[in-house]
Amino acid sequence: MISSKIEKAINKQINHEFNTSYTYLAIAAWFASKNLAGFANWMQVQRTEELTHAAKLFDFLVDRGGRVELEAVGKPKGDYGSPKDAIAAALKLEQATTALINKLFDLAAEEKDYATQGCLQWFVDEQVEEEKNVSDILAKLEMAGDSKGTLLMLDHQLAKRGKS
Ligand code: FEO
Repeated sequence: MISSKIEKAINKQINHEFNTSYTYLAIAAWFASKNLAGFANWMQVQRTEELTHAAKLFDFLVDRGGRVELEAVGKPKGDYGSPKDAIAAALKLEQATTALINKLFDLAAEEKDYATQGCLQWFVDEQVEEEKNVSDILAKLEMAGDSKGTLLMLDHQLAKRGKS
C-alpha cells in the first residue's frame, strides 16, 4: 500500500509529464511553422517519450494500489524568438523536471518508501540523458551563431531521431 502523501506526489508528477509532453508538442509546432522539420521531428519524438514517462508512473501507482487522479493540462507557450530560444526553453523544462524528480525522491526516502525510490531511480538516471540531449543541441546552436547553413545541417541531423 502506498501512503497518501506519495500517491498525491506521483499524481502531480504524472501531470507534470503530460504538461511537458504538451509543451514539446507546442515547440514542435513552432519549429514546423519555421520550416525546420528536423527540429520539429525531434520535439515530436520527445513528446512521445514524455508520455511514456507519465505511463510508467501511472502503472507504478496502479501496481502499488494507489489511485490515479488526472489533473488538467495547461496551455503551453507556443511562440519563441529563435531556435536557440526554443531549445533553451526545453532545457529549462528538463532542469525543472530533474528538480521535481529529486524532490519526489527525497519524499520517498523520508517516508521510507523503498519501492517508490526504486521506481524513481530510473527517472533520476533518465534525467541525466534528458538534460544532456537538449544541452548538446543548445551547444551546437550556440556554436552555429548566425550561420544558416549550420542550422540546416543540424535540422537534417535531428530529422533522423526515431527513424531507425
Ligand atoms: Fe519526463 Fe523529459 O523528462
